[in-house]
Amino acid sequence: MSRRYLIAGNWKMNTRSREATALAKAVVDAIGEDTPVDVALCPPAVYLSVVADAVAGTPVGLGAQNLYPANDGAYTGEINAGMLTDVGCRFVILGHSERRALMGETDAQVSKKLQAALAGNLVPIVCVGETLEDREANRTEKVVGTQIRGSLSELDEVRAAGIVVAYEPVWAIGTGKTATPEQAEEVHAFIRKLLGELFTDDVAAQIRIQYGGSVKPGNAKQLLGKPNIDGALVGGASLKADDFLGIINAA
Ligand code: PGA
Repeated sequence: MSRRYLIAGNWKMNTRSREATALAKAVVDAIGEDTPVDVALCPPAVYLSVVADAVAGTPVGLGAQNLYPANDGAYTGEINAGMLTDVGCRFVILGHSERRALMGETDAQVSKKLQAALAGNLVPIVCVGETLEDREANRTEKVVGTQIRGSLSELDEVRAAGIVVAYEPVWAIGTGKTATPEQAEEVHAFIRKLLGELFTDDVAAQIRIQYGGSVKPGNAKQLLGKPNIDGALVGGASLKADDFLGIINAA
């Protein structure tokens, strides 16, 4: 089963429109028409349109960092899947650990968002990962397993193959501490086995599992060399075109 790498840049709450345009253009120019790796940029919602213009007609995909799982209506401040596809999104990051920690997002909410994303023809990137405390208490598989089961609880087998899972150990995000390729692979293999139990082995073999957490050009190749690591969700290093391109080149 060959899965295409997906390298996605999560810009979080960074950039302004000029920077966003320049960064997107630099990525588009460097990767050219015909790349063997899938690439996506996930800017802040207010810059989705700006980045959509920069990537239009190129293989670079556009992704959002969140959505609200409801149709149009009285939800002040929220953005739904229909709006994201309308501005050109193909991907949406869901359940990022920062949202789980800062906004109290639960697996049940992530599950609703996942259903909304799929109904709106967006590819969801579902984030899971343990804290340092969890890891030190040997609870990594328990925590990640609970997040996967909860976040994917309403997902059916037919649609499951099209989702992306991002394993992002919380202790590695923005800290400069990366999981070793062996540590990451161990959890990725666990996730794939669990996906096989929840769906089928064939479906599990099609689901892309990204690693995220201080991915840099210098560590990308070793991480991406592991059999169950199918890409990277990149925060800090996605804000510098050279670093992000270095990670794409490693893939
Ligand atoms: P980082 O962020 O690459 O800055 O660690 C990754 C993420 O949060 O997606």
